[in-house]
Amino acid sequence: MSRMEEKLEGRKTGIDGEMLSEIGLAAQKILSGELVGFPTETVYGLGANALDAEAVTKIYSAKGRPSDNPLIIHVCDIKMAESVVELNWRARFLMDTFWPGPLSLVLKAKEIVPHVTRGGLDTAAIRMPDNPIALELIRAAGVPIAAPSANRSGRPSPTDAVTVREDIGDSVSMVLDGGPAVVGLESTVLDVSGEDPVLLRPGGVSKEEIEKALHIPVLLPCDGESIKRSPGTRYRHYAPGIPLVLTDSSYSNEAEGKKWAWIGTSEPEHSPAVKIIFRDTEEYAKELFRALRVIEKSEAEIIVAQIPDETGIGRALKDRLVRASGI
Ligand code: TXA
Ligand code: MG
Repeated sequence: MSRMEEKLEGRKTGIDGEMLSEIGLAAQKILSGELVGFPTETVYGLGANALDAEAVTKIYSAKGRPSDNPLIIHVCDIKMAESVVELNWRARFLMDTFWPGPLSLVLKAKEIVPHVTRGGLDTAAIRMPDNPIALELIRAAGVPIAAPSANRSGRPSPTDAVTVREDIGDSVSMVLDGGPAVVGLESTVLDVSGEDPVLLRPGGVSKEEIEKALHIPVLLPCDGESIKRSPGTRYRHYAPGIPLVLTDSSYSNEAEGKKWAWIGTSEPEHSPAVKIIFRDTEEYAKELFRALRVIEKSEAEIIVAQIPDETGIGRALKDRLVRASGI
């Protein structure tokens, strides 16, 4: 038995009869070219049949997403992954180690994948999400599901069903509610199509974990090249409705004379109008997007965010904070 099979064996999915029939309905909608919001362990996705160019086009218009920013294709097993990309031994090893889980692998796409799904590239990103509802939806539909995060382009990713409805509710046929996302930040995107593995986006699986599994260094894309290889990094992301500044101390002068909000893992120096303190870096990562949306609705005029340590999930968290600050 492979490690992935072992992980999945005997797992209680917690899906009740009512949810099963909702998933069945959602699968039919996917097959008839409609969009469905669904939970994953990272953030909620806005899904369409990855092999149906017309359906995928609807994702881009619902999000207001630039058409050259490719989507991640979600699969429920390795066989389905093999139907859309060319697998190599390294990819197979990473799948067995980290799937189901927050690791998207960029590989050479097969012809069957429409150009619109891969933003015109000859590669495609695939992942098997670690969420029973997502896996059952893909299994029931029997097709791979292309899904970006279910927010309007440029907004923080949604980590619960209510936020999906708030952001893009009018363009989805239905949203499956799987409760709050457990990771809270998007998946790691790793390019394994070439000689060396390249980290295109830090996420739920850390660089260190991948290096430990592969016994070789994971490269970071060089400036300039990064934009070519990872189109998503070109656009401003995760922007809250008010300015966000980063600090490695416990205050920022930019908050002077303003109503400010504090987010971080330690107490701020002065008293902010809104204060959200997380237990540790993991909780900071998990709750960041929700916190940004909560603060946006408060009286705060500016957010001061504490810079996390760049180890483990901290690297992904810092990446999202830097993007939210618009630096
Ligand atoms: O956790 C996640 O990955 C979530 C959930 C829904 O699975 N999805 C997500 O999708 O974050 P999205 O569209 O917000 O981000 C996809 C990222 C973008 O940065 C995109 O540029 C990159 O993956 N990407 C997709 N296909 C690629 C490819 N062929 N080559 C390089 N980067 C690719
Ligand atoms: Mg996104």
